[in-house]
Amino acid sequence: MERMLFAIDVGTTKVCTLAAEALSGEELRVVGMGTVPARGMQKGSVVGVEEAAQAIQASLAEAERMSGVKIEQAVVSLSGVQIASVNSRGSTIVSRSARGISKDDVDRAMEAALGIALSASHELVHSVPRSFTVDGQDGIRNPIGMFGHRLEVEAHLVTTPANAMANLMKCVRAAGVQVEGVIFQALAAGEAILTPEERESGVVVVDIGGGTTDVAIFLEGSVWHSAVIGIGGQLITRDLVICLQMPAPAAEELKLRCGYADPSDVMEGEVVEIEGFGDQPRRSIPRKLLAEIIGDRVEQIFIRVGEEITRSGYAGLLPAGVVLCGGTAQLGGIRAVARRVLNMPVRVGTPRGVRGLMDVATNPAYACGVGLLQWANRYGVHVDGRRRLADDGTWRGWLKEWVNRILPG
Ligand SMILES: Nc1ncnc2c1ncn2[C@@H]1O[C@H](COP(=O)(O)OP(=O)(O)OP(=O)(O)O)[C@@H](O)[C@H]1O
Ligand SMILES: [Mg+2]
Repeated sequence: MERMLFAIDVGTTKVCTLAAEALSGEELRVVGMGTVPARGMQKGSVVGVEEAAQAIQASLAEAERMSGVKIEQAVVSLSGVQIASVNSRGSTIVSRSARGISKDDVDRAMEAALGIALSASHELVHSVPRSFTVDGQDGIRNPIGMFGHRLEVEAHLVTTPANAMANLMKCVRAAGVQVEGVIFQALAAGEAILTPEERESGVVVVDIGGGTTDVAIFLEGSVWHSAVIGIGGQLITRDLVICLQMPAPAAEELKLRCGYADPSDVMEGEVVEIEGFGDQPRRSIPRKLLAEIIGDRVEQIFIRVGEEITRSGYAGLLPAGVVLCGGTAQLGGIRAVARRVLNMPVRVGTPRGVRGLMDVATNPAYACGVGLLQWANRYGVHVDGRRRLADDGTWRGWLKEWVNRILPG
């Protein structure tokens, strides 16, 4: 029987559980999916443990029903505006061995990089080695087996407030599932939508969901910068409620049915019918006005993304441009707005390497969910409880992630 993988993408507007079989050549066949409206979530973080757990439970039950498999453990997504990322250096003296640099040497260098960067209130989510330097020779991807005296690592670290992580874990456990690993949403999405060529050349993943816009910059095959912006599709809908004075469910429906992000592309004279509050009669508004309201907010999102790219310091190094995903990436005209604001090539990314359910393979909203599965398939996952600081003061639980990254298979 094929190896089964399970993932729960806990978003602000939807919870999506996926069950998949790992096929040969990193392909996945999705055999179960459960997507339900999220509850108890705000801007990517848990704000109501009980409600969030119930939504997770409902999504699990649906995925179990469809796949016929009981889900006991899963990889889970994490977002939230308090997620922070930093690049850190660590170094060590290589232990003497006839086989050259060993995993232990790499572990020590990584631990040194962590030691510098971590604070007590934040917990580590990812520690990704970007590149190694051996005796001054830089740009080394995998130093294991090389000879040298001094090993340095450049690591990208993603951290989250410990309480935010604890709340998420509590919800998933309350739904009866063991957490195998927690992965930042934009990193997961990157696994699903990027081509190896894009990752190598330099590219930005922008996952525009309901509550947040998650950003990750990939260069030379690995992640160099990550960030969360606290604006997403919910705010677009909220703007429609306020500007057009209409109830939220009708505004959401209007956005999905007629929404467009680029007003310059909408003909004068086109109209759409909208609903009002209370006994207000239905009325017509120009579609251009609708696009202007949506376009303003989408532009604001990309301005913030641009600021994040500038802040990263890698602005000139991203020839592959921007790959959009998340539910809001389905908005018509969004690519043109992104291109105009960011002045970079833009495409909308859908999950790669998945068979089975068509909807999953063609919808950018499932990028994160599929990415979680692919992450687990490619790098393995860490077991719950091993993630914490070990008694000897080191982050032992994390060794597996970086070792698997540089030594796939
Ligand atoms: N066709 C569409 N056009 C415009 N917006 C859409 C479309 N389909 C979905 N959306 C919007 O996408 C958002 C949901 O996206 P997604 O499912 O990626 O979010 P999420 O994962 O729940 O949230 P987050 O990742 O921010 O925590 C909603 O705001 C929804 O209105
Ligand atoms: Mg999401």
